[in-house]
Amino acid sequence: MNQRRLRANEHIRELAAQVYVSHKDFIQPVFVDEALTERQSAKHLTGVYTETIESVLQQTEKDIAAGVTKFLLFPVPARKSENGFSFDFAAEVTKRLKQTFGNSIWLANDVCLCSYTTHGHCGILSKEGDRLLNDDTVMVLADYALQLTHAGSDCIAPSDMSDGRISAIREALDTNGYDVTAIMSYAAKFSSSFYGPFRDVCKSAPGKSQLSNRTTYQLDYRNSKDAMATALRDAKEGADILMVKPALPYLDIVQTINKEITKPIAVYHVSGEYAALEFLAQQQLGERAALHKEVWTAFKRAGASVIISYASREAKEWLL
Ligand code: PBG
Repeated sequence: MNQRRLRANEHIRELAAQVYVSHKDFIQPVFVDEALTERQSAKHLTGVYTETIESVLQQTEKDIAAGVTKFLLFPVPARKSENGFSFDFAAEVTKRLKQTFGNSIWLANDVCLCSYTTHGHCGILSKEGDRLLNDDTVMVLADYALQLTHAGSDCIAPSDMSDGRISAIREALDTNGYDVTAIMSYAAKFSSSFYGPFRDVCKSAPGKSQLSNRTTYQLDYRNSKDAMATALRDAKEGADILMVKPALPYLDIVQTINKEITKPIAVYHVSGEYAALEFLAQQQLGERAALHKEVWTAFKRAGASVIISYASREAKEWLL
C-alpha cells in the first residue's frame, strides 16, 4: 500500500491540491493618524506603518504598482470626545485617496467609534458609563457611513457590534442614492485578547469607564450560536460580505456560516495573530512566508473567500 503517491513530487501535489490562495483574495489594512507629521512604524506590527495623508498617497501609488489594490482604512482622529464627533479627517483621507486613484483601488472604510471616544468604547456610553447606548450609537454610525460614502468609499465595514447597524447604514446609503456601495459587516466579531497591537496603533483600548472591556457587545467565544445569529441577522439586514474575526481560532465559525449563508466570508487575521507569527519568524523558529501561507490556506479551506492580513503586500510574491 502506498498512500504517498499523491505527495511524491511537486507536480502531483499541485494537481491533488484542492485549495489555492491568490493575492487577489487580500485586503490590506491601512492606518492614517491625524496627529502625525511623518509616517511611523506601527509598534509590534512589522512592515506596517501609521501614515499621514501625504504618505498614504505615496504608499498607495507604490501598492497599485505592486498589484495591491484593496484596502481597509482606519483613521485615527486627533481629537477624542464622549459624544459629538467630527468625521472630517476620515472623510478627507477617503476623498484624497479616491480622487487620486479612482477605481484603480477598492477602498473599504472601517466604521466604529473606538478611536473617537475618550473611553475607547465602540459607541456612546450611558451617563453612568456602565453600558453602551445601542440606538444612539447606531444613529451616529449611519451618519458616519454616509459621510464616508459621500467622500468616495466603495465599502462600509462597521466593526462596532451594535444591533441594527447594518439596516440603518443600508437605509441611509440607499435613500441618498448610494445603493451600489457595499457593506462588509464585522458579523461574527469576538471579544478577543488578540487585538492588542491594533489598539495600541489606533489609540482605542477601552479604559476610563466602568466598562473595562468589550464583553457586553462583542461575542463570547463560548457561544457559537450567537455568532451564527449575528451573521444571519446581518445578512438579512443587507450585508454583502460577512466577516469573522479573529480568524485562526474561529475557523469552525467560518465553516458553519459558509454552509448556512450564501454570502462571501471575509476573515480578519488580526494584529495579535499577525504579531504572533512575526515573533516566530523573528526568533527564527519558522519561516515568515511559510507561516503566513499556511494560515492563509487554512482560511480558504474553511470557506473564507476574503483575507484581511497585515501581510497582504507580500501575498503576490509569496504566493507565486
Ligand atoms: C474596532 C476594531 C478593532 C479591530 C478592528 N476594528 C479592535 C477592537 O475591537 O478592539 C481589531 C483589528 C486587529 O486587531 O487587527 N472596533
